[in-house]
Amino acid sequence: MKRFSIGTAVVTAFAVLTLVGCNGGGGDKAPADGGKPGTGGKTAAAKFTIGMSQCNLGEPWRVQMNKDIEEAAKAHPEINIIYRDASNKSESQQAQVREFIQQRVNLIIISPKESRPLTKPVEEAMDLGIPVIVLDRAIEGDKYSCFIGGDNVKIGRELGKFMVKALGGKGNVIELKGLQTSVPGKDRHNGFMEGIKGSQIKIIFDADCQWLEPNAQKEMASALSRFPQIDAVYGHNDPSAHGAYQATVQEGKGREKTIKFFGVDALPTEGVKYVKDGVLTATFQYPTGGKEAIDAAILLLNKMSPDKKIVLGTKVFNKDTVAKGGEAL
Ligand code: FRU
Repeated sequence: MKRFSIGTAVVTAFAVLTLVGCNGGGGDKAPADGGKPGTGGKTAAAKFTIGMSQCNLGEPWRVQMNKDIEEAAKAHPEINIIYRDASNKSESQQAQVREFIQQRVNLIIISPKESRPLTKPVEEAMDLGIPVIVLDRAIEGDKYSCFIGGDNVKIGRELGKFMVKALGGKGNVIELKGLQTSVPGKDRHNGFMEGIKGSQIKIIFDADCQWLEPNAQKEMASALSRFPQIDAVYGHNDPSAHGAYQATVQEGKGREKTIKFFGVDALPTEGVKYVKDGVLTATFQYPTGGKEAIDAAILLLNKMSPDKKIVLGTKVFNKDTVAKGGEAL
């Protein structure tokens, strides 16, 4: 199969579909709430069924991903998307992929919770000829059709470099990590270590907060009780950075005025708002890839191949760049 770059080939694929007789009728819509579990309700115009397994819908970033998918799918009445929410349980997500296989959907999109447990079900789908698009968190090996996600090593590295400057080259840092059994969690840490290399920044406390704000808040409370001098917090996502800020305010010593908080994701209603409110010093954008997933799906459904790996860019939002929509890195 020939590989096509997304921008050009989607137009071709869409034209092909129109020629083969898509009538452009209603199609199935994703749930208006951004993706509660639903069966989709296929209509006559929908020629292809896509199963989408989302690792959870408890985090705003994932609700946004489903919305981005839903929005992009509006241009394609020939696809019907069945959304499933795995409620942050790898076992549920395994079952969802297997359920999609049993239903013989035409394509699967998965945003996995963890790499290892989801590798096998994805391979099973591929073995049966069902293309799989993996979004955001990678699986192991390379048995999938297309992976789409941000460059987490780069994000960690850029954040590290930014922090070195913001702290004048030295300081005590708390690192509130994302789930370490997921690839972005490991990559954001490794990139950060590269970014602070050669500086006098020390990680004095770290914890796996599994991407969750309440965990980050709890871990930060214990870090605050142990360390009188904390200069910055690196939250692997904005909810973690925000949880750390909340814990610092709750401590009641006013240390939130001297500690600098950094996060990742940069949703307009979350991290970007925190920067505007002066809660975060900076946040680094982590695009959801929802639109790109639909572009890739259209190619695959029409027997064309998108690039095997699609890496999305990032932007930094801080007090100087937030008003102009961030600065691309
Ligand atoms: C949401 C999330 C984001 C983060 C991404 C990493 O579940 O935690 O905040 O950037 O996953 O996979």
